Amino acid sequence: GFTPRIFSGIQPSGGLTLGNYLGALKRFAALQGEQSETIYCVVDMHAITVWQDPEALRMRTREAAAAFMASGVDPAQSVLFNQSQVTAHAELAWLFNTVARVGWMYRMTQFKDKAGKNSENASLGLLAYPALMAADILAYQATAVPVGEDQKQHLELTRDIATKFNHDYGVNHFPITEPLIEGAATRVMSLRDGSKKMSKSDPSDASRINLTDNADAIAQKIRKARTDADPLPGTVEGLRDRPEARNLINIFAALADESPDQVLSRFEGQGFGAFKPALAEVAVAKLSPITAKMAEFMDDPAEIDRILGTGAERAAAIATPILDRTKDIMGL
Ligand code: ADP
Ligand code: NA
Repeated sequence: GFTPRIFSGIQPSGGLTLGNYLGALKRFAALQGEQSETIYCVVDMHAITVWQDPEALRMRTREAAAAFMASGVDPAQSVLFNQSQVTAHAELAWLFNTVARVGWMYRMTQFKDKAGKNSENASLGLLAYPALMAADILAYQATAVPVGEDQKQHLELTRDIATKFNHDYGVNHFPITEPLIEGAATRVMSLRDGSKKMSKSDPSDASRINLTDNADAIAQKIRKARTDADPLPGTVEGLRDRPEARNLINIFAALADESPDQVLSRFEGQGFGAFKPALAEVAVAKLSPITAKMAEFMDDPAEIDRILGTGAERAAAIATPILDRTKDIMGL
């Protein structure tokens, strides 16, 4: 058996959103101090698969680290670091490039979305992204990965790489990592379009709540969120064909640590005129302490760099022997 170990990462490719918080960050802190070791990473080498301004990237890497800590990740309890500072990730990714098949990569929906129509002009790294993600996870022989729904396909590819490696070399070297996709908000949708996920890369700022938004901005975005005119039903079954309403109920439930049905039992028969101010209130109550703490951490960038440096040493101490053993297995 493998030691229970949790790994997850976040790209410093833009400002973080409520989707990143509910789908990922909020759960990272909750998983600390349980049976598993927790390893959390700012994945800057993933970010550069699309163009990043170097100075902005450096700043956003610190901001992502600040977001981890402001959300409750304690760098003494968890290993918190920046991907490019631990060379095992890049080395293992190359080894996995020889295990993964080209066809697996072309099937990834995120590649198709991000590469767009002119996919011949996408970076090779964007195509190979899932092999680096597999390396992030398997460099620690991680057994579980808390992520949002959008990462499910990539995680399946990590499992495929581990399975093929173990089979090809006749070993039981890599675990078959379990996705932890749980809670009411595993896929937070855009506030402007119930068919698109909330994303930091959406050109419309009104589509998302940023972790740096102030109370007024949060309230205004929720007030303007697209909805229908019907009153709220008593249970989630009544929201089946109402994606925008369903999304707002899910967001409320996740923020308030309730089930969607519990939320609906309180708002049954009421319209969005009553629900939206209540949602804005819970969102501000949960997010503004995080926003404030992020700003506090960002006031001392040298301290963030020091924390990430210590984290990188701890991460390398785990990953390096696993990488060495992998190379040995492969005859390198
Ligand atoms: P993004 O998709 O915003 O560029 P990342 O790829 O860095 O962010 O993902 C960081 C984490 O946030 C992943 O676990 C991802 O599944 C989660 N996540 C991103 N967007 C959402 C969303 N809209 N709803 C729930 N989880 C999300
Ligand atoms: Na993502």
